[in-house]
Amino acid sequence: MKKLIFVNLKMYLNTIEDIQNYIDNLKNEKDKIVIFPSNIYLYEFIKQNFQIGIQNISSYPKGAHTGCTSALSAKDLGVKYALIGHSELREYEKKDTINQKIKQALNNNLKVVLCIGENLEHYNQNKTKEIIKKQIEIALENIKEQIIISYEPVWAIGTGLTPKKEEIKDIIDYIKSLFNYKIKVLYGGSVSDKNINKLNQISNIDGFLIGSAGVNPNTLKKIIEVTQK
Ligand code: 13P
Repeated sequence: MKKLIFVNLKMYLNTIEDIQNYIDNLKNEKDKIVIFPSNIYLYEFIKQNFQIGIQNISSYPKGAHTGCTSALSAKDLGVKYALIGHSELREYEKKDTINQKIKQALNNNLKVVLCIGENLEHYNQNKTKEIIKKQIEIALENIKEQIIISYEPVWAIGTGLTPKKEEIKDIIDYIKSLFNYKIKVLYGGSVSDKNINKLNQISNIDGFLIGSAGVNPNTLKKIIEVTQK
């Protein structure tokens, strides 16, 4: 089955020339991927009809919030998805901020991709399920609308490490069991062209959230090829 391929470009590409090369190289793949560029380049992708997500949104609707981007302005520009709760931001957020961001996104008809995942200490203590259940409960308090989850163990992000196939399958089954609808669950954390064959065999994965391996269009094309069979 074809998988969702979401690419979080983080702050990897920092010139308009790099962005334009990236767009040129991936123009034939644009129906197979969703790109999350940094805000300053969102419109470059939207102009070229890519499906686009935003890496973060404000927990407020509008007003005196310097440096923030509202869900309304993202929607108005043509953004389709909002990544919320990424671990690279989570540590700076208050307990209820993620919940408020999700509400902002849903109020503005953005599709929410909620990131959850345990750190290494919790993984070693076998507390993964306990941690992600709590993260989901806090993030989704009083929210009934459907969302997408990305399971991203913090210790697997940018480290070249991943959990074992069986562990990922078990956690994804567990996440799906917590919802009363058929939720889509992605896996993220050191997905690459080297391990995609193996990761793609995990039967209950609905797709991947790719970081650094998505920055090189050729590497990304290899990943797309494996996952679109
Ligand atoms: P890496 O693929 O670089 O580990 O990053 C994953 C990630 O954080 C995606 O949001």
